[in-house]
Amino acid sequence: MTNSIDRRQFMQNTATTGAVATTALSAAQAFSQESAANKLVVGVMGLSRGRSLAVGFAQMADVEVKYVCDVDRDRAGSGADLVAGANAPKPMVITDFRRILEDKDVDILVCAAPNHWHAPATIMGCNAGKHVYVEKPCSHNPFEGELMVAAARKNNRAVQMGTQRRSAPETILAIDELRGGAIGRVYHSRAFYASARPPIHPGTAPANVDFDLWQGPAPRLDEVRGYVHYNWHWRWHWGNGELGNNGVHTLDLCRWGMGVDYPLRVSSSGGRYHHVADSQETPDTQTVSFEFAGNRQITWTGLSCNRHRTDFVIFYGTGGTLELDSSGSYRIYDTKDALVKEVHGAALGDAQHKENFVTAIRMERPLSLNSEILEGHKSTLLCHLGNIAQRTGRLLNCDPTDGRILEDPEAMSLWARDYEPGWEPVV
Ligand SMILES: NC(=O)c1ccc[n+]([C@@H]2O[C@H](COP(=O)([O-])OP(=O)(O)OC[C@H]3O[C@@H](n4cnc5c(N)ncnc54)[C@H](O)[C@@H]3O)[C@@H](O)[C@H]2O)c1
Repeated sequence: MTNSIDRRQFMQNTATTGAVATTALSAAQAFSQESAANKLVVGVMGLSRGRSLAVGFAQMADVEVKYVCDVDRDRAGSGADLVAGANAPKPMVITDFRRILEDKDVDILVCAAPNHWHAPATIMGCNAGKHVYVEKPCSHNPFEGELMVAAARKNNRAVQMGTQRRSAPETILAIDELRGGAIGRVYHSRAFYASARPPIHPGTAPANVDFDLWQGPAPRLDEVRGYVHYNWHWRWHWGNGELGNNGVHTLDLCRWGMGVDYPLRVSSSGGRYHHVADSQETPDTQTVSFEFAGNRQITWTGLSCNRHRTDFVIFYGTGGTLELDSSGSYRIYDTKDALVKEVHGAALGDAQHKENFVTAIRMERPLSLNSEILEGHKSTLLCHLGNIAQRTGRLLNCDPTDGRILEDPEAMSLWARDYEPGWEPVV
């Protein structure tokens, strides 16, 4: 499917020449023509998380992964082998994702590169006519999220953020229960994350990495070599800490379940409490509180260095409580805290999220996505606001129509970032 116009033309042609098709074409020929017209061609950027995304897309009906791209040539090569090992055609191995954008046969860019790449690559993808599956958090800062929504709308592209729990069947049921009033008016939800990460010290750079293209839109820093791979998550120049890394998944569920968009007030406390003598900038211990219009509140607590977990997401309402756990199961309790319903989660939504994305493209309904970029931006914005509150040490008052910070120029100075010249995103 080189583009939707080709697909439409094919459908029209087969409709108008239907009589010929039944006599002159065998059923198999007709099927393979229709299959070719429906085929979606994918290029995947970033082959760590992108490995499972590439394999997942390659195994879908009428989807071809034509390119795997990583600035670490070794990772790109092993990613291609992985796709081939999953009984799919071996993709081309490339290190510059702009080749994906230039290829007119490609319909979809999958961006699983580090966070500072998400918005610039998505905007370039939309401008090149590609639909984009972009990993969470969708942006590195709030302004980029606004630009991504504008790019998706201007180019009429489907842009799905990788918060796959939005497509998990039992999670959808749980949210339906909340919307149906199962626990009355929901006024509070609480999200929790815990892990046991080691101290962060600059490491030895892997061989075969193009560090200029790894940094791309981020202004150049020599120290980058010490934080590739993965530990960039804990430096503000590229990452968003645990709040943007794992917090975004659960905050997205809280926001979805409560039906809230932009907060009125945001506060945060915490810091680097567990490992105090390393080079991590982002907090390892943090509690963020978001207050919304109509007496509603969300809190998130993240502990990066102590894995003892208590809960995942809990919704509190006037008629009881709904508890969602990390396996996708949920339980409903009445006002006496007695268990009244329990549903076991069978999936976390990975396969369903890709299916939802591909279906929205085929149906030419980009807004029917489960994690459409506007919703992705609103949930990612909660992480950015929490981190801005943390970094400024202040309570943020926000405009409830767009989340922008009111009467605080210092906090608003963190709304956007500087770019490496030549890489400024343009919608
Ligand atoms: N949805 C989920 O459940 C989920 C799970 C894991 C990671 N993620 C997201 O995936 C993203 C990647 O995280 P990670 O943990 O895999 O990080 P990572 O550092 O391990 O991997 C990132 C990869 O991107 C590559 N890369 C960097 N710049 C590139 C470029 N210009 N072109 C192509 N490749 C480039 C790096 O070389 C590296 O191989 C993050 O944004 C993370 O939040 C999402």
